Amino acid sequence: MKDKGTGAGFGKTILFGEHFVVYGLPGIASGIGDRTIAEIEPAEKYELIDNRPATPDYKQKKKGEMERSMKMILDFMRIDVEKNPVKITLSGNLYCTSGVGASAAMATSIARAFSDLYELNLNDEQINRISYEGEKGTVGTHSGLDNTCATFGGLIWFIKNLEGGENTIEHIDLKEPIDIVLANTGISQDTKEVVMDVKSNKEAEPEKYERIFRDYEAFVHEARSALEGGDFDRLAQLIDRNHELLREITVSCKEAEEIITAAKENGATAGKITGTGRGGYVILLTPRKDIQDRVAKAIEAKGYKTMKTTIGY
Ligand code: MEV
Repeated sequence: MKDKGTGAGFGKTILFGEHFVVYGLPGIASGIGDRTIAEIEPAEKYELIDNRPATPDYKQKKKGEMERSMKMILDFMRIDVEKNPVKITLSGNLYCTSGVGASAAMATSIARAFSDLYELNLNDEQINRISYEGEKGTVGTHSGLDNTCATFGGLIWFIKNLEGGENTIEHIDLKEPIDIVLANTGISQDTKEVVMDVKSNKEAEPEKYERIFRDYEAFVHEARSALEGGDFDRLAQLIDRNHELLREITVSCKEAEEIITAAKENGATAGKITGTGRGGYVILLTPRKDIQDRVAKAIEAKGYKTMKTTIGY
């Protein structure tokens, strides 16, 4: 055993398919450069110190989820922190709120830090499996997309295997990096609640949801080709179409709509909710640095925090 173990997990942004991936439809997501770092060292008693930057209500709202997630990770790794107490310190530059994969980044960073501390030499697949378990504590039934991005980073094509077997995870190569702005609505949402709500709406209106799913499936493959071929005009149209479908399943909100309108007035070519929705983050496509700067400034002027970043980490 080492004196201290360290591990990191990437934040993520979903370009296509949040909520739809839960039902086995393809999703496209990317790790972002911002990360959560976990440091774990032996201690007198078990302690979790959370120094991650976060929206004011995030840590309070997520306390129960975090405790459940921790328990699932420890049980799965068969680590007994009563017998062998540790101090876990969370930090990093990933600004925590819903929509940016913060809980998965935390789970991956902790799994990596334990692997480092106890010299377990776990590979990425094993880390991803642990992070998936941790996410069950947070999200309940989930697709596995967030933990996959948190662990592997990069731009990925993802299909959840509904039969419980291996998920499809394919790396998508970009011709050139894509500049985006992530704007924070300032509202934290409980992913589990929103996913359950979408499920009950789907059960209440099966035909509507079937139509929405078919609409989505008809363009998500083209979205992948647009990314691979660097066709940003087509990409922008398809991101907007995805957002229309997210509006239809009621996961947008007035803050997200205000952000998208301000961004488009300042040169963003597309915008959509990314992640859970009803708050959290909005992703804005800003195909040049000067547009990225202008869009971020305009959104900040409306009182929202932004992150200028690039897809494909
Ligand atoms: C949350 O980031 C993404 C959702 O699609 C849930 C999931 O994929 O597990 C809303």
